Amino acid sequence: MKKQERALVTGGAGLIGSHVTDFLVREGWWVRILDNLEPNTHKRGKPAWINRDAEFVQGDLRDRGTIENALRDIDVIFHQAAYGGYMPEMAKYVHVNSLGTAQMLEIIREKNLPVQKVIVASSQAVYSEGAGECAKHGLVFPRVRPVKQLQRGDWSVRCPICNEPTTSVPTPEENGLWLNQG
Ligand SMILES: NC(=O)c1ccc[n+]([C@@H]2O[C@H](COP(=O)([O-])OP(=O)(O)OC[C@H]3O[C@@H](n4cnc5c(N)ncnc54)[C@H](O)[C@@H]3O)[C@@H](O)[C@H]2O)c1
Ligand SMILES: [Zn+2]
Repeated sequence: MKKQERALVTGGAGLIGSHVTDFLVREGWWVRILDNLEPNTHKRGKPAWINRDAEFVQGDLRDRGTIENALRDIDVIFHQAAYGGYMPEMAKYVHVNSLGTAQMLEIIREKNLPVQKVIVASSQAVYSEGAGECAKHGLVFPRVRPVKQLQRGDWSVRCPICNEPTTSVPTPEENGLWLNQG
């Protein structure tokens, strides 16, 4: 029989991590969640949507010992723990998101852990929700890229009028300007 794969989902109480957890459990994986239930994110405490078939560890990514324990017997890490939102806490962002991630990688290397893969989160910057410059049509507001296009490996953000690739430009903030297009 094939060995059951073991995943660590960091941030498994959050939006993306909880869906990743549900998917993995459905696919027959053994899953451990590491999440500190960041109070700014989980204002009402531990959310009810956390998958009951996953092991839940409440702990902080910034804590070395916590990470070391969470990494025990893990094959694949889905790294979705992050401090987000739009708060003016720059140092905390760097501490959780950058240092936390770097420290986790350092521990894997230092302890020579048999982790096969670390899947990191993408960035909101991939969404085409800003403005674009089309060579023909000037300032345009492309829609979200179609899944079919992404499946072809075409990542360009295309003009909603002529479908040619656009260049990303700062989104003007004049009221309603972007609402009038597309
Ligand atoms: N939601 C989106 O639309 C989106 C789009 C692109 C990229 N992303 C990225 O995906 C990742 C996850 O996003 P999300 O929307 O699921 O966020 P989220 O805030 O819903 O979930 C993040 C989880 O991480 C946990 N967490 C925060 N600090 C922690 C710490 N120090 N230790 C352990 N756990 C901690 C929180 O408690 C929370 O449950 C982020 O890196 C985000 O930038 C999200
Ligand atoms: Zn165009």
